[in-house]
Amino acid sequence: MSLYAQAMAQCQALLAQAQQLALTYPNAMTLATADAQGRPSARVVLLKELDERGLVFYTNQQSAKAQDLRLNPQAELLFYWEKLQRQIRIRGTVESVTDAEANAYWVTRPLESRIGGWASQQSHILKQREDLERRYQQIAAQYPDGNIPRPPHWSGYRVLPTYFEFWEERPFRLHYRQCYELQGDTWTKYLLNP
Ligand SMILES: Cc1cc2nc3c(=O)[nH]c(=O)nc-3n(C[C@H](O)[C@H](O)[C@H](O)COP(=O)(O)O)c2cc1C
Repeated sequence: MSLYAQAMAQCQALLAQAQQLALTYPNAMTLATADAQGRPSARVVLLKELDERGLVFYTNQQSAKAQDLRLNPQAELLFYWEKLQRQIRIRGTVESVTDAEANAYWVTRPLESRIGGWASQQSHILKQREDLERRYQQIAAQYPDGNIPRPPHWSGYRVLPTYFEFWEERPFRLHYRQCYELQGDTWTKYLLNP
């Protein structure tokens, strides 16, 4: 198994363990981006797909994070599961998923989330809460059969990893940090001091 495949398999295994913990969102991850001036922003998103190509989350492509990613298509993802005493950091380049992938995921979303996907102008100023609630009701009335198409600005991003760090809590703060890094076109593996 390649080092990359080993790292991805470790992610899969830890996510599977996290799914046993009865957490509301075992797939929650912090997404860090930076704007063109290098100013960072971080927020939580949900991991929706993990395969050999990378890690996918869905969002509004007119959001602040999308604006960052347009100018600087790099991100770090962070998972922390307290009960597992584990943290994973994954850095990589970011690309949009295809329309076909986004459509396939869109239809699996609950009705309310699909209505919300149209109603919310994510990250834009909302003058008053009632405006959002009115937009929600308008969209719901517009599609009484619940057959709501995917908004063109609602899609997903795939993070293509170039770096993984698996952190494990160990006694005496002598934590374990195992890294996998793509250098040129070769993956290497090393430990870091905690
Ligand atoms: C548990 C949790 C899950 C979330 N999942 C998503 C998600 O999958 N996609 C998304 O766009 N926002 C999600 N959010 C909201 C984001 O954290 C954030 O508020 C929003 O995407 C706007 O971020 P931005 O202004 O930096 O673009 C989630 C928030 C939490 C707390």
